Amino acid sequence: MTRLDQIRAIEAKLLLPTYDRNPILFTGGEGVNLIDEQGQRYLDLLSGIGVNSLGYRHPVIEDAIARQSRKLIHTSNLYYHEGQAELALRLTEHTGLDRAFFANTGTEAWEGALKLARAYATLRRSEGANIGTKFLALEQSFHGRTYGAMSTTYKAKYREPFAPVVPGVEFVRFNDIDDLRAQFSTDVCAILVEAIQGEGGIRPLTQEFLAEARALASSTGALLLIDEIQSGMGRTGKWCAYQHYGISGAPADRSSSVGWIQPDITTLAKPLAGGVPLGAVLCTEEVSRAIHAGMHGTTFGGGPLACAVAIAVIDHIEKEGLLAHITEVGDYFQQQLRTLAARHECIVDVRGRGLMVAAEVDSAELGKTVVAEMLKRHILINCTSDTVLRFLPPYILERAHVDTAIAALDAILTEQAAHAAAPSAGGQHHA
Ligand SMILES: Cc1ncc(COP(=O)(O)O)c(C=O)c1O
Repeated sequence: MTRLDQIRAIEAKLLLPTYDRNPILFTGGEGVNLIDEQGQRYLDLLSGIGVNSLGYRHPVIEDAIARQSRKLIHTSNLYYHEGQAELALRLTEHTGLDRAFFANTGTEAWEGALKLARAYATLRRSEGANIGTKFLALEQSFHGRTYGAMSTTYKAKYREPFAPVVPGVEFVRFNDIDDLRAQFSTDVCAILVEAIQGEGGIRPLTQEFLAEARALASSTGALLLIDEIQSGMGRTGKWCAYQHYGISGAPADRSSSVGWIQPDITTLAKPLAGGVPLGAVLCTEEVSRAIHAGMHGTTFGGGPLACAVAIAVIDHIEKEGLLAHITEVGDYFQQQLRTLAARHECIVDVRGRGLMVAAEVDSAELGKTVVAEMLKRHILINCTSDTVLRFLPPYILERAHVDTAIAALDAILTEQAAHAAAPSAGGQHHA
């Protein structure tokens, strides 16, 4: 029995069966590669679902962990430590927002954002404003697995088994301005979006839709919440994906001088501390009026270790000009995928920004087959929303890695097309 077999047998008996894992045992990593128990390398184009921003065994992360672990790993939020102020300085600068709260994960950050939005509406009502408690979320959204986050996540499979969910959530058709206008009223306390939907299939909001969401929210004093858990911290070539959206039509009181459509609240997590769990909620000074001591908190959130690593990762991204690198390699990736799409008609769309990239194929079966075939060639990707091949590689990806992935995809799609053309030969027919 191999070590993997032993582990699988124990997990099958002792763990809740929440995951359908691939049968690989990873024991290490280096650069853009994961390494399995036999020492075999895998090109990781998923980076722990958008987490390992600097790849594996990056000296900046190793040093930050070593240094901080010799000083202080955990205190509590009852006392000060050196990390939160330092990190908040960077995050407020990079998001254009004023105040931060630190959590541990994405869903927990989003949960904090929802609570903050409802608390702000409560405060505004107490001041005489006419504002309700309803959340308008988007179809195909994904915000996490805890109750509030799950309740604002679109797909029924994530919500229905756990009913009743948190009340007061309605879903608007994605990028449909008429539906947004029709559903918006003074009952709404916040509009909830991802600037680029992640699990929903790497789908960017249109400029017009985000501008309208901003304008509608500002017109009643409702809030605009942008979830940047997957798309933030450099992933798209800017610190936040909303920074790709120029100001157009947002009333002056909410459109800040930053030059992009500014949310009232944003959330960060995944790549924030390069693999160490950390989440953050950022908000405006105005919204922060809704919170006072004791209303919200966490034992672990914003601990010294996670903050020290996040600071080191952010400083490294700046020092090395990684945002420009992400844009450059990401553009190359999309361009190569488009060239591939021109030769393989089963690729029906290529989209994304920076190193948040997708190639949509014409069937769920083909999507699954491509992921499995890439794995056989030691390249890790996944397929989201049934048909969307998703690439969220580490920020240190180079063009040569893109070429490796494109060559593998080309070979797989050629093979699949040949099988589809001659199904009697025993191949898999994807159409
Ligand atoms: C946009 C978005 N929000 C929230 C989450 C939840 O994050 P976590 O899995 O860290 O709870 C995810 C996770 O995929 C996400 O992509």
